[in-house]
Amino acid sequence: MATRTVADIMSRPVITAEPAETVAAAAARMEEHHVGSVVVVDSGRPIGILTERDLVRLAASADADVSAVKVTEWMTGDPYTVEPHVEVIDAWATLAEKGYRHIPVVVDATLVGIVTIRDLVRIAQIQPMEHPSQTTAPKGLEGLVVAETAVGDVRGLEGFYHYRQYNAVELAEKRSLEDVWHLLFQGELPTAEQRRDFLQEIRPLQTVPEAVKSMLPVIARSGTRPGPLDALRTALSAAAQALDMPPSLDVDAPRLRMDAMRVCAVVPTLIMALYRLRQGLDPVDPHPDLGYSANYLYMLSGEVPDPVHARAVEQYQISTIDHGFNASTFTARVVTSTGADLGSAVVAALGSLSGPLHGGAPSRALDMLDAIGSPDNAEGWIRHAVQSGGRIMGFGHRVYKTDDPRSVMLRGVAERLGGHNVEFAKQVERTVVDVLAELKPGRNLYANVEFYAGVVMDRCGLPRELFTPTFASSRTIGWCANILEQAADNRIMRPSARYVGPPPPQPVPAAE
Ligand code: ACO
Repeated sequence: MATRTVADIMSRPVITAEPAETVAAAAARMEEHHVGSVVVVDSGRPIGILTERDLVRLAASADADVSAVKVTEWMTGDPYTVEPHVEVIDAWATLAEKGYRHIPVVVDATLVGIVTIRDLVRIAQIQPMEHPSQTTAPKGLEGLVVAETAVGDVRGLEGFYHYRQYNAVELAEKRSLEDVWHLLFQGELPTAEQRRDFLQEIRPLQTVPEAVKSMLPVIARSGTRPGPLDALRTALSAAAQALDMPPSLDVDAPRLRMDAMRVCAVVPTLIMALYRLRQGLDPVDPHPDLGYSANYLYMLSGEVPDPVHARAVEQYQISTIDHGFNASTFTARVVTSTGADLGSAVVAALGSLSGPLHGGAPSRALDMLDAIGSPDNAEGWIRHAVQSGGRIMGFGHRVYKTDDPRSVMLRGVAERLGGHNVEFAKQVERTVVDVLAELKPGRNLYANVEFYAGVVMDRCGLPRELFTPTFASSRTIGWCANILEQAADNRIMRPSARYVGPPPPQPVPAAE
């Protein structure tokens, strides 16, 4: 394509003003000719430029008499000019760099035309200018710091993660889920009295709103092959609506915290009600005296669970409450950054967690153990899966390049629980790690949280279709802690993308 110059695209004749004219007269001429500027000329030479921006400044100035003030008092003197032979790309660069919207065109210092930003964007093949502060993020945003948080963090190389200032694994070993929930919402572990108050606050919030109760049977039974979080996503959306959650932008911190408490408390009840309804059973109301995870198992069967099973599920759920800026947490914060209500942010996060690369893996990990069948088949099965381009579910992590501390803890929990699958799972884990080290050298792929999660949940009587919802249930607390933090110090998240399609603007063809 031939190079275009300023001469090809400049506008003429130029709308001008005399130095002695009033701004009012010049503004009237701008309006009459539908232009955004007038060039002030003296014997044909541009000595200044008066733009719409100057008129706005003038209007905002309390002591200026608009009808009497002269253009020379408000114009930008000695304007930057360009010559007609200059290439369009260079003129564009000058406009973008200096922030000008109009440049007079001169030959031998005499005004012959004007080029405006509008003229430039109208022509084809304008190259985009890099904004000086623009940086290109790595694919998948790997390693990019996008916020500050006091909720927690993951140190991938050390195989360590923490909630606030405490080691998360130690919290899972020593504390109840409600204590950790209190830590994330209130910033501190509770005293005995604070714990009592917190449990009392949670209890009434576990009940599903009446308007939603009647919808649950329909939601539970719709779809022949529902995704792991489809029903919960729909039911939670209905519950958030029934609970009248206003945009986070319009509410104070105590009200937003109350919305967060409600969502965190009602999610386990919704999960189990939906599961039982799908099985043709009536939902079981929450048990007033049981802790979070014991009550969770109670609402599945209607029976108070074995405390060993309840504690194993509780340790799993504590270990999955939060985990840095993972995809679903990031989603929740992006939605909150728009000022949307807390329910919308959690529903969006559920959608993000439902993907097999994030939260949809634990049932697939157990399916893999079933498919392998016996220790003798492990190596051949895994080798074939990796060589055919497949991913071994429950292995690999964006941040951990060593053992995932959650998987180490859950392997211990699984060992304590015992059962036929545990030894088999440990053998498969070793084989997968060896095969991946050989076939994917340097990638440092180890078991992640989801590999032993399936084994533990299975052993505690949770059916596979509840694996991802069980993860979602505890992660809701982490999402909400992040939502509260985002709302407290917010700026809308609005990154950019590099356009790589055909160069714009192409002429729009007439409709056939
Ligand atoms: N099986 C086989 N190969 C793998 C696996 C795996 N589980 N994980 C990573 N790799 C390989 C990739 O094929 C890739 O190889 P290449 O360099 O030859 O292309 C390399 O390792 C790097 O993989 P990426 O996809 O770039 O790693 P990324 O950090 O983007 O993905 C993820 C991390 C999604 C967890 C990935 O490891 C994976 O798909 N794992 C299986 C699914 C899973 O277990 N998800 C649960 C994660 S935990 C959680 O979200 C709670």
